[in-house]
Amino acid sequence: MTSDKIIPSDDSHRIATTDDIEVSTYLEIAREIAGEQPAESGEAVSGAEREVIIVLDFGSQYNMLIARRVREAKVYCEVLPHDTPWEKIAPLKPRGFILSGGPASVYAKGAPQAPAYVFGSGLPVLGICYGMQVIASQLGGIVKPGSKREYGHSVLNISQADSPLFAKLPGSTPVWMSHGDRIEEMPDGFTSLAYTENSPNAVIGNGTNMFGLQFHPEVAHTPEGKTILRNFVYKVCGCKGNWTMGNFVAESVDRIKNQVGKGKVICALSGGVDSSVVATLIHRAIGDQLTCIFVNNGLLRREEAERTLKVFKENLGMNIIYVDAADRFLDRLKGVIDPERKRKIIGEEFIRVFEEEATKLGKIDFLAQGTLYPDVIESQSHTGATKVKIKTHHNVGGLPEKMHLKLVEPLRFIFKDEVRFVARQLEMPPHIVYRQPFPGPGLAIRIIGEVTRERVKILQQADAIIIDEIFKAGLARDVWQFFGVLPVVRSVGVMGDERTYEYPIVLRAITSEDAMTADWARIPYDILEKISSRVVNEVKGVNRCVFDITSKPPGTIEWE
Ligand code: XMP
Repeated sequence: MTSDKIIPSDDSHRIATTDDIEVSTYLEIAREIAGEQPAESGEAVSGAEREVIIVLDFGSQYNMLIARRVREAKVYCEVLPHDTPWEKIAPLKPRGFILSGGPASVYAKGAPQAPAYVFGSGLPVLGICYGMQVIASQLGGIVKPGSKREYGHSVLNISQADSPLFAKLPGSTPVWMSHGDRIEEMPDGFTSLAYTENSPNAVIGNGTNMFGLQFHPEVAHTPEGKTILRNFVYKVCGCKGNWTMGNFVAESVDRIKNQVGKGKVICALSGGVDSSVVATLIHRAIGDQLTCIFVNNGLLRREEAERTLKVFKENLGMNIIYVDAADRFLDRLKGVIDPERKRKIIGEEFIRVFEEEATKLGKIDFLAQGTLYPDVIESQSHTGATKVKIKTHHNVGGLPEKMHLKLVEPLRFIFKDEVRFVARQLEMPPHIVYRQPFPGPGLAIRIIGEVTRERVKILQQADAIIIDEIFKAGLARDVWQFFGVLPVVRSVGVMGDERTYEYPIVLRAITSEDAMTADWARIPYDILEKISSRVVNEVKGVNRCVFDITSKPPGTIEWE
């Protein structure tokens, strides 16, 4: 097995690979999740003022990671555009600023600058790469193109070991550099605190609360980077670290109450962790003013609809409208073989069913959505023209405009893996917290060929056996996704004295860290044997079981 931890991926849709920036950031995040985790427990610290660090975004591909690192230190952190006006910052009462890296050169015409309040507020400031050049140039130093560009690994040698930034750091440590400019002349009061072979000013400071780093402390390639950021947040900004998921839950519930008042909210529940957390937070805040709509498209795993309803309707007592729309979906899928057409049909039908049900409810004021923080950061970034992406399951077309709905988005300030911590804080059952990613179009894209009721039933039964055996073998945590696929071909077999001519079931089991690359899971032979024998013996219509040993790339995780 390549990984011994389940690392969260995006539950509800394909991981977006629209540009390199997003991909590399997700990769970095995924790689690092196995390390330090955000605070997962702790009571809400009532009355304690929330400590906030602001990252001003100059366009670095790593700005989300900076926020992640600060939050791992239990200090709330937001990423805002570099030119955010003070009126927007002031209510957050920041304890310090981090100026992110960025692609520009400070001496270039029109290069982005830090607002005057950054230096005028007296608050601590940490500049990273471009952010450091900003500090140097805006405070009177001189930045010029370096004679040698420095990218990749380098070794940092600390010359001023008593700086608070270096507490608990060894005398030299590897760092990840990425810059072409250098500080030629220091601004007044600043000195060099550390150097690398090519950068005499790899770390600078003004002796009190302003620092600049020429390298990226937030990336995995700078192993002591977390300690440096922690030192800045704790020893320079004076934070104590009181941001926990317990606080998050309490704050969210308050925020939702304030936003919604006596209004009515609808939410599309899918059983995935995001929509489950959204629904549960809103339900805690406003109880029966929330109505969830759960659409059974007939393409779910066996007993999935029942399990989800049990948790939300019976255990949590939520208002849930359960729509058994299996016939509608399956009718529309008749004769369809092309995977992308299947996806389109299922998406469209979902929107129709959801709209019909929502309209029946009369006057509704809000629509709940599972927008996550990375979507928000991207949409506000001055470098990205990307708009907030709406997730497949929450994408209910033109509903907000048609019904004049405002949005409630309780997850808009947290990262994907933090959602799971919130889910645990909300005491959700493990099958929801750790649910393996399940595609929105469901079993339709695991039946390779036309989807029929008979084939869905066969696949559900085989899939349930696979799930059962992988859990029984204790492998569920190690394997990222495991499921059955039903290619619509038939092969000859013999059972008892009879010749059979039936479908095969493909066992797909993969390990992965982020769903973008994957390897086939090395399932022990005896477990494979058990799965094969049970599938062939117990599922009518199947006479063969095969194991997919293709990695991604060149294969994909799903067969369609
Ligand atoms: P692939 O097959 O592209 O899958 O390697 C990567 C991840 O995305 C999931 N997946 C989907 N999720 N709608 C979804 O909500 C889809 O159409 C879809 N297609 C793939 C897949 O299960 C895996 O986790």
